[in-house]
Amino acid sequence: MVKKKSKAVSKETPATLTYEDRLAWFHEARFGLFIHWGLYSLLERGEWAMFQERIPRDDYAKLADRFRPKHFNPHAWAEMARDAGMKYAVLTTRHHDGFCLFDSQVSEFTAPKTAAKRDLVAEYVEAFRKAGLKVGFYYSLLDWRFPGYFMPTKYKKSAADMVAQFHAQVRELMTNYGHIDVLWYDGGWIAHGAYAKDIAAFWKSAEVNAMARELQPHIVINNRSGIDEDLDTPEQHVTASQAGRGWESCMTIGDSCGWGYIRNNPNMKTVTQLLQHLVTAAAGEGNFLLNVGPRPDGTIRKGERKRLAAMGEWLKVNGEAIYGSQRCSLHGGMIGMWTRKGNTGYLHVLRWPGKEAVVPLVKTAVKSARLLATGDRLQVRQEHNGRLVIGGLPKSPPDPHIAVIKVKFDGPPESLDERDKAAWIEAQAE
Ligand code: GLC
Repeated sequence: MVKKKSKAVSKETPATLTYEDRLAWFHEARFGLFIHWGLYSLLERGEWAMFQERIPRDDYAKLADRFRPKHFNPHAWAEMARDAGMKYAVLTTRHHDGFCLFDSQVSEFTAPKTAAKRDLVAEYVEAFRKAGLKVGFYYSLLDWRFPGYFMPTKYKKSAADMVAQFHAQVRELMTNYGHIDVLWYDGGWIAHGAYAKDIAAFWKSAEVNAMARELQPHIVINNRSGIDEDLDTPEQHVTASQAGRGWESCMTIGDSCGWGYIRNNPNMKTVTQLLQHLVTAAAGEGNFLLNVGPRPDGTIRKGERKRLAAMGEWLKVNGEAIYGSQRCSLHGGMIGMWTRKGNTGYLHVLRWPGKEAVVPLVKTAVKSARLLATGDRLQVRQEHNGRLVIGGLPKSPPDPHIAVIKVKFDGPPESLDERDKAAWIEAQAE
């Protein structure tokens, strides 16, 4: 059992680090792995089974006797994430069912104290860190085992106990596992959303977040404890926040109803769809946190592994257009969308146009263009009214998913301000 005194993991203090400092690695990363794994994986019907099927607490608890993940190999998970081109991961240290994958002094319902007899979080942290990946903890504030979650005014003591558990366990997670990069809260709603009062006040979130920052000054915290903190977290859709605000879209590979292992879940997104989501996130300066739901024994199904591997292959060729990407004001039209890095624009072609690609209203002068898939240099022509014509493209798409055209500009690429929409017609008449 890990017993350490709470003390900060570095000499930095929350006050010496700016928002930009703390978010710098996160913006560079763009792509992360979400992992939903716990007792519910044994039921094979997603992580909400306990609630959806109203499984009595004591019956549900018996699942812990069967949770012995004999093939759990976090090094293989980390390798899979790294090969997918992901730069960090977020593991469910505890979901809404209250079962902790980590060692806790304030709960008996944990992996180390039941059949698994292992601190699975410690193993995860060690393996991912070793693989050079950043490490995040998902933690659900709410715990279905407490009647005080469902009826906080009727069961006041139970609600207070649940809040106390939240504070104690965040302290444990922030103390016992060294440097942690992301604190990913979930389940901050109360009474299933029916409790309309200030949820941050209910959970005393400001207090617990200040404590987390004291212990891990660099940490990135999401917005699900009732306080905005560092990150917005659109779920199952990719929608950019305003410029300057950190955001990360999380998504399942299968149907949107479940994140934990669902045995029969045939409706998986294609590699092309997943890459399009990643590109959409990068184009809005946000991240894409893509989920897998390992089996109870710790293995990950082939359908998920294959998709991640294919994304990694794509990123090997096109990663420079994704990692550390910035917003770009150029038009993608029907063809696709742009990301940018300084004076370089990247046109992600989602619908291959054939031998020529045309981008309207380009104000900045173009120096050169290349196709990342082949490395071939392309022809560029800038016409009246900002029409940029990129020629010398192959007739068929050079990448089965998304081909990227890298365009070097004379300065940060900008679009013309088109005040007069008839101007392009009139230019012809001249
Ligand atoms: C929701 C769900 C939860 C899942 C999470 C991921 O809040 O309750 O099951 O873990 O979204 O974002």
